[in-house]
Amino acid sequence: MADICVASHHTSLAELLADEEFYMLSQRDGFLIELRLDYYSDLTLDNFNVALNVFAPKAIVTYRHPAEDGRRTNVSDSERLSYLQRAAEAGAKYIDIETRTPHADFKKHQSQLILSFHDFEQALDSYELRRRREEMNADAEADIIKIACRSDNIQDTAPLLSLLTDNAALKPLIALAMGESGFWTRVVGPLFGSPLTYARGERAPGTAAGQPTWRELEENYRFHQLKPGWPVYGVIGNPITHSLSPLMHNTALRKMGLDGVYLPFRVEGDPIEFVNTFASALGIKALSVTIPHKETMLKICSEVHELARMIGAVNTILLNSNGAWYGANTDAFAAADALEEVIGSLRGKNVLVLGAGGAAKAVAFGVKVRGAHVFVANRTIEHAVALAAAVGGKMIRYDELDGRPNFAAVINTTSVGMFPDTQQTPLKKEQIPESSIVFDTVYNPLRTKLLKLAQEKGCEVLEGVTMFVRQGACQFELYSGAKAPREAMKQVVLAALKNARLLSEPRALASGRAVKRIAP
Ligand code: ATR
Repeated sequence: MADICVASHHTSLAELLADEEFYMLSQRDGFLIELRLDYYSDLTLDNFNVALNVFAPKAIVTYRHPAEDGRRTNVSDSERLSYLQRAAEAGAKYIDIETRTPHADFKKHQSQLILSFHDFEQALDSYELRRRREEMNADAEADIIKIACRSDNIQDTAPLLSLLTDNAALKPLIALAMGESGFWTRVVGPLFGSPLTYARGERAPGTAAGQPTWRELEENYRFHQLKPGWPVYGVIGNPITHSLSPLMHNTALRKMGLDGVYLPFRVEGDPIEFVNTFASALGIKALSVTIPHKETMLKICSEVHELARMIGAVNTILLNSNGAWYGANTDAFAAADALEEVIGSLRGKNVLVLGAGGAAKAVAFGVKVRGAHVFVANRTIEHAVALAAAVGGKMIRYDELDGRPNFAAVINTTSVGMFPDTQQTPLKKEQIPESSIVFDTVYNPLRTKLLKLAQEKGCEVLEGVTMFVRQGACQFELYSGAKAPREAMKQVVLAALKNARLLSEPRALASGRAVKRIAP
């Protein structure tokens, strides 16, 4: 089992020693504590000895070189090494020394040596990474090699993947890309035999972007269970950091007892290049696709579900048995299923779609193929005309909506009413058709102004979160072949929304475009 090393963020040893979270973790199997000696204002040999008494058997001790993010610039190599030597004498589990720190005379005792290299300034190319790794591998004292470098985009992290996949007869490797695009590197190490990864404490203030908390790794990503051969799933989009899809899908995998881990990939550039570079090396079997890649990803699919073809966009791709990509659009199924669950068959029923963008298109085709008559209302009339024509429906102007019971269902696909503009509504109360079911794809807030007005009018309402869970459940069933534990998925999403500080999927269908901050 690989370990989760929780990095001390404390500014003094006294603060670390008083931190119950770190003490608790030091007592648990599968956890290590990283002591960053360059951080501590009260670092003296006496104070350090006290800390070693508590943490040594579970510690990675490092006194980071100033050129590699060390905070003390006026400290000599020999002084840094003397502290590390003390840690080894006291039985620290690991000592981390940078390649640039001369360490030929260092005595490891029972400790293992992590030989490390960090570059916070730049991403390294494959050639440079391989050269460094070979050099580090040749260091007779090194037990583990750690290479961490900056990444500004997902392609910057590709050379680390090729290092991870090339493990033959080399010392164990920890390869990390710092920055949001490098999140995946923090999680997948055990799939490639890495002995440990780094996480932050739950109360760590503003730490490195892309570094998960230990709890996320342990509970959501099942880090301690990850093994070579586990399938990898994920969501690609931009932005993606606060997507709820990883939480929802990992919950489903765990609940169903299935191997597999689902990761967020922030892909800024060409998503096809991402898939071609990463999918086979990382073991990716399926991906959720969100804004802005839904249309482009259609092109990578050799086979596409008819509905996705009509919509011109996929939100899911998965490898079929021939190793080719199959694309589907579960947004469309989810909208139609959610409505049919409440009002029965849509055949012959009038459905009013508010909006005429990408999300509207998926919804409109989704209900159309179930036999509904589609009406489209939109701020820009020409867009409504175009969508109505594409689905064989009718355009209707907002000012023609007078509340008469002409529609079995109304679906809002615009962002109107989404946080922070929660007092906005796409329809005034008097425009909401009587006895219609009103469905809002916005799910931040859970109950939008539109839904509140609809309820006041006695209409049945459907929240966007239902939709988000459904499209995810449908994806899960496609890639896993198992029945989705929909209730568990919904509960975990609801809990996250209730605690949410940040959301990037405020609309169930068109997740990811706007990052909306909920006031703390
Ligand atoms: P998505 O792909 O998420 O659906 P989109 O393609 O940009 O996003 O579409 C957004 C939809 O919401 C459009 O129909 C847009 O109307 P316009 O076609 O007039 O742009 C609609 N929309 C966005 N903001 C709106 C607002 N403040 N009032 C009314 N409609 C709005």
